[in-house]
Amino acid sequence: MGNLLRHYWQPVLLSNELPEPDSGPLRVRLLGEDLVAFRDSSGRLGLLGNHCPHRGASLFFGRNEENGLRCVYHGWKLDVSGACVDMPSEPPESSLKDKIRHTAYPVVERNGVAWVYMGPQRPAPPLPAVEWNLVPPEQCYVSVRGQQNNWVQALEGEIDPSHAGFLHAWLNEDENINNFLPIASRGPLYRARDRHPRVETADTDAGVTIAARRNAEEDSYYWRIYQFLFPFYTVIPPYGADPTFTGHAWVPIDDEQVLALCFTYHPVRPLTDAELNTLRQGLHGVESVHASVDAFLPPSSEPFGRWRPKQNRENLYGMDREAQRTMRYSGVPGVWPQDSACQETMGPIVDRGHEHLASTDTGIIRVRRRLIAAANALREEGVLPPGSQAPESFRVRSASLVLPRTDPWLAGAAEVLTAPPGVNFAAA
Ligand code: FES
Ligand SMILES: [Fe+2]
Repeated sequence: MGNLLRHYWQPVLLSNELPEPDSGPLRVRLLGEDLVAFRDSSGRLGLLGNHCPHRGASLFFGRNEENGLRCVYHGWKLDVSGACVDMPSEPPESSLKDKIRHTAYPVVERNGVAWVYMGPQRPAPPLPAVEWNLVPPEQCYVSVRGQQNNWVQALEGEIDPSHAGFLHAWLNEDENINNFLPIASRGPLYRARDRHPRVETADTDAGVTIAARRNAEEDSYYWRIYQFLFPFYTVIPPYGADPTFTGHAWVPIDDEQVLALCFTYHPVRPLTDAELNTLRQGLHGVESVHASVDAFLPPSSEPFGRWRPKQNRENLYGMDREAQRTMRYSGVPGVWPQDSACQETMGPIVDRGHEHLASTDTGIIRVRRRLIAAANALREEGVLPPGSQAPESFRVRSASLVLPRTDPWLAGAAEVLTAPPGVNFAAA
């Protein structure tokens, strides 16, 4: 699966984490490798192996100067391509410098997100046409947090259409629902009332579409349609007449930690100040799936030590038994801490031999099969994994809609599942 992951670009940093040329390097851990990210004097981003090729000191301590990162131990200097461009500790006639090729991965910035390619293809394939990162930055809000478990069990949490009616529910949801969701519509009510959706799936070129059917009116069903895109993207179904779209990239730091990059975007217009405020802070009982800007512990220099949530396993995520009796189903405040509480406490890699998968896990089963089949096809036949060479196959949206009971969902939703630039479709 690691080889499969390496065939895809990884969104790993926000451009503003390395705001200017020669700013301080950052430690990064990605796909189990320790790396150092820096922005050189020309503004280019570099991602180098953490250990200096001389005798292994951490390049995190490096001096970022004149288009290269200089190890503070003996002054060897590496540029963004991994070439050693200066070796002041050796005599000038030495050619050792020219023999050094340090681990360096290509990094590309697009609309405020830095992507890295750690795979074998040269040149690297194009970036995936994920809509959240194709719209201009003012149309998309991105937040990041770390989670202490395997990336797949986090990803599975978001394509599980059943848990929201429990884990994320308020008690007396029918009364509270208009406080909980900013946009009034009947969708949330249908969702709250029918807690055992029937789940169906359809494979796409780059992933799986997962449709959860609930009863709406006598003659109609309410469909909430999720997208899984290889290798680790999820898009949640939207609400309302002029919807924004939210989802995640579940980027594997290693087998036991994941970077949850959360995006919310509008396909056509900039996000409003009110929307941005809610996404950044949460407002009046509106609980966001984004970690708010003050949700984090003081940064540490550990890889992704900038994204350690205050609500974590050690403090039981702020769980409150009184709130559990009177207010929220889980007793844990906040949407993402509720997910974290369930996913981290499964253990860093949940033992799936002990599961009893149920009908609402149909989407999870399909996604596991696709991932495993793709990893096997790559290993056994060298088949490049889904979508990795076809960036446009990522141009899809999630959807929610009410359809007559007689209509098949895949045909009924076909148009709204596409992502035509400059067009938004109403959701239910
Ligand atoms: S260990 Fe880096 S220059 Fe010697
Ligand atoms: Fe959730």
